[in-house]
Amino acid sequence: MILDALTKGMRKTIIAGNWKMNKTPSEAKALLEEIAPLVKDAKCEVVACVPYVDLATAVEATKGTNIKIGAENCHWEEKGAYTGEISTGMLKEIGVEYVVIGHSERRQYFGETDETVNKRTKAALAAGLKPIVCVGELLWERECNITNEVIARQIKLDLWDVTPEEMANVVIAYEPVWAIGTGKTATAEQAEEVCGFIRSCLKEMFGLEVAAAVTIQYGGSMNDQNAAELLKKPNVDGGLIGGASLVAEKFAAIVAATALEY
Ligand code: 13P
Repeated sequence: MILDALTKGMRKTIIAGNWKMNKTPSEAKALLEEIAPLVKDAKCEVVACVPYVDLATAVEATKGTNIKIGAENCHWEEKGAYTGEISTGMLKEIGVEYVVIGHSERRQYFGETDETVNKRTKAALAAGLKPIVCVGELLWERECNITNEVIARQIKLDLWDVTPEEMANVVIAYEPVWAIGTGKTATAEQAEEVCGFIRSCLKEMFGLEVAAAVTIQYGGSMNDQNAAELLKKPNVDGGLIGGASLVAEKFAAIVAATALEY
């Protein structure tokens, strides 16, 4: 849509690594120290979302750099008897800025539902964290031609009761489940189509102005080879990178590709 192309420049481009269950604290420190000089002139926001036990080390290792640190999940309660969980206050206190919520791996393997994604998103916002809310269809859902229905349902439920003001701190990541870790990237056209559809859902829920300002990332086998083409699309405002974020040169090349966007 022409309007989306015109408003692209108003949106923050964000390249975020999602390290998943990789890297010990000492390995995290080493990787961040390798990445930092390579991305110091980035034209976009650079984020590394790392395992809980790496967070304090990661915050320390990136002090004085342009790299922001994110967690990979958070609980919705402030405190209490939730063995094994981590609160937003704990993340906030150590200097975490972003938190991935509703990743498909959590939905698939850990019983995450749209209801719990919504609770975590609201808790993150209330604590002043920036949630990266992940949505995406399964291969079977795409083949049944219900991608838009699935995405609309996730967006509506995951962002239920979030205010238009709070949306300024929300990032959406479109991650087609069939493209994650499979080497099968969505084509730039497929990514654009769904990211544009997400923006139209946001328009319906929060109005044009809010929708035009939301960063929508693509994620799923994004790498140094395909990033530029994806990031050129009017509604693709960044990337959530798995595998390629664990290799400093590849991650840095994706960050550099944001400067070629137009
Ligand atoms: P890959 O880049 O390894 O496909 O992972 C994508 C992802 O799940 C990011 O959250």
